[in-house]
Amino acid sequence: MSVPHHVAIIMDGNGRWAGLRGWSRIKGHKEGVRAVEDILDAAAEAGIQHLSLYAFSTENWKRPSLEVSGLMALLRMYLRMFLPKLRRKGIRFHHLGSLEGLPEGVQRDIRALEESTADHTGMVFHLAVNYGSRLEITQAARRCVEAGLQPDEITEEAIAARLWTAGTPDVDLLIRTSGELRISNFLLWQAAYAEFYITECLWPDFRGPQLREALEAYANRERRFGGI
Ligand code: IPE
Ligand code: IPE
Ligand code: MG
Repeated sequence: MSVPHHVAIIMDGNGRWAGLRGWSRIKGHKEGVRAVEDILDAAAEAGIQHLSLYAFSTENWKRPSLEVSGLMALLRMYLRMFLPKLRRKGIRFHHLGSLEGLPEGVQRDIRALEESTADHTGMVFHLAVNYGSRLEITQAARRCVEAGLQPDEITEEAIAARLWTAGTPDVDLLIRTSGELRISNFLLWQAAYAEFYITECLWPDFRGPQLREALEAYANRERRFGGI
């Protein structure tokens, strides 16, 4: 079975999952973190080399401040809790997104987890927090100018090397849970030729078996990259 090198997931549906049970949205986010733990294991077992999870977008700041602060608190708690698992499995942690604008504690915890897993050689776990593709591409363009590149030196490679994903292969499989048919500013550049897999399953219910189903669907796709 052909295994994608890079799987990216738009983890959507935590609020709806909680709403169906008459619970607060934050309870849905908590259960969503359990799903993250399961998916880390299942992805590593499946032999995926890069897993990118969309946790908080540059647009999510529009949510009520109570939900935003709840999400940031959860994030800090779990960034700390993840370390033993990442150590055990040799998983390297990498942040995608802008640290600027995040609470200082979150910035610190992100840096600490990146540093303490930097020498791990297994799967890379990219967590997108305060991530927006348009911001990422705009910033890459700005960096090209700052580096003094001439117009003919502004190539696809030059831009890719200045994205937060520099050095990471393009996305092969892009999964979105909870049925929404949109990309919501996630990895627009990197997913240019990704296979899409949309499931009605809400994120807290997306576990190992659901990931394996997506991988099977991917293995049956015919990728063409514009050829015949
Ligand atoms: C995804 O779940 C998690 C984040 C965006 C933080 P949502 O919170 O978007 O859940 P729904 O879409 O309202 O169900
Ligand atoms: C996308 O989900 C962002 C994350 C999963 C972090 P949203 O719930 O924010 O997306 P929209 O608003 O439905 O497009
Ligand atoms: Mg949503």
